[in-house]
Amino acid sequence: MTDTRMSMYRSDLLSGKRILITGGGTGLGKSIGKRYVELGADLVICGRRREVLEQTAKEFKDTLGVTVETHVCDVRDAKTVESMMDAIWATGPLDVLLNNAAGNFLARTERLSTRAFDAVVDIVLKGSAYCTMDVGRRWIDAGHKGTVMQILTQSAMTGMPFTVPSAMAKAGALAMIRSLAVEWGPYGIRTVGVVPGPFPTEGAWSRLMPQERIGQAPIEQGVALRRVGEHHELADLCVYLISESAAFITGEAVVIDGGRWLQGTAGASAYNMQQWPDSTWESLKPKKSKE
Ligand code: HXC
Ligand code: NAP
Repeated sequence: MTDTRMSMYRSDLLSGKRILITGGGTGLGKSIGKRYVELGADLVICGRRREVLEQTAKEFKDTLGVTVETHVCDVRDAKTVESMMDAIWATGPLDVLLNNAAGNFLARTERLSTRAFDAVVDIVLKGSAYCTMDVGRRWIDAGHKGTVMQILTQSAMTGMPFTVPSAMAKAGALAMIRSLAVEWGPYGIRTVGVVPGPFPTEGAWSRLMPQERIGQAPIEQGVALRRVGEHHELADLCVYLISESAAFITGEAVVIDGGRWLQGTAGASAYNMQQWPDSTWESLKPKKSKE
């Protein structure tokens, strides 16, 4: 079913645009993808779990009547990324890459294993870079103009305790879009960023918002507008930034967070988390299966 909320966009605004959303099978990537196809885009999504991608493609087919191309791809693996791009380009170039895939969890940094650190940084920083470099090379070689959009987090700008690998990786991704705005601008390639505040998703909430945290510092209290975001609000910003109306915007990251970062999020939440006993941190770790 098409979204019936009032839209400021023409219903064919994105027709003719072919867009890849990494991690587009769930959460915010899925909501943004839905908006893109509602406005006429050809959507490609990738992720590690085939069944999740196929379920999303089926849902879009059943509700919107559109066919979504899916690719199983772990963006941490540069060779797999290249194979996916070969398969995509076999039927035509992309016009937009949306680096949305991410990994994140709460942990005390001094207790993190190097594998845990790598798991997050490899997805967020290296995965975004592999996709961007591959797509950029194809665009530049063919003289094709395009847009790379990067989903960031507040932590990229301010840092964030207890999610240090993600903050470091997102800060690197912010540096990437700012750098490439200048390097690739002469080719007609734009690079833009979006910094969402709290937008509830299963993936983020299950890992980052345990009851111990929310109970001590309700999220809404940390947001100037006293609420979390709605997915359609983020999706509409993501439409604007890849549209021709935004053709003169590059290297910029737009914050959409209800004033959360200005209010200062780490304060009470970090204080409370510093009081947590070891048992709380242990309970947040993945359960090891017995061998
Ligand atoms: C400590 C942890 C941990 C935790 C995993 N690890 N979770 N360590 N605390 N909570 C450790 C494991 O023990 C292991 O180290 C290492 O990390 C790799 O774990 P795997 O499970 O083997 O990795 P993998 O299957 O590749 O999973 C990657 C992942 C996982 C990042 C760990 O969470 C994931 O798949 N995430 C994808 C979705 C996601 O995170 N969505 C949220 C995005 S929200 P050892 O040493 O034991 O082997 C976001 C910002 C939101 O980015 C901001 C909200 C306001
Ligand atoms: P999510 O549903 O967990 O989305 C993460 C997606 O990334 C999943 O579809 C996952 O699919 C995919 N993914 C993870 N690792 C991957 C890999 N190695 N290769 C390919 N795909 C991979 O969480 P979300 O909340 O929607 O997050 C989406 C984006 O928004 C992220 O960039 C996140 O940092 C950002 N963000 C979210 C919030 C929020 O409040 N929700 C706030 C700020 C920023 P598979 O597991 O199947 O691979």
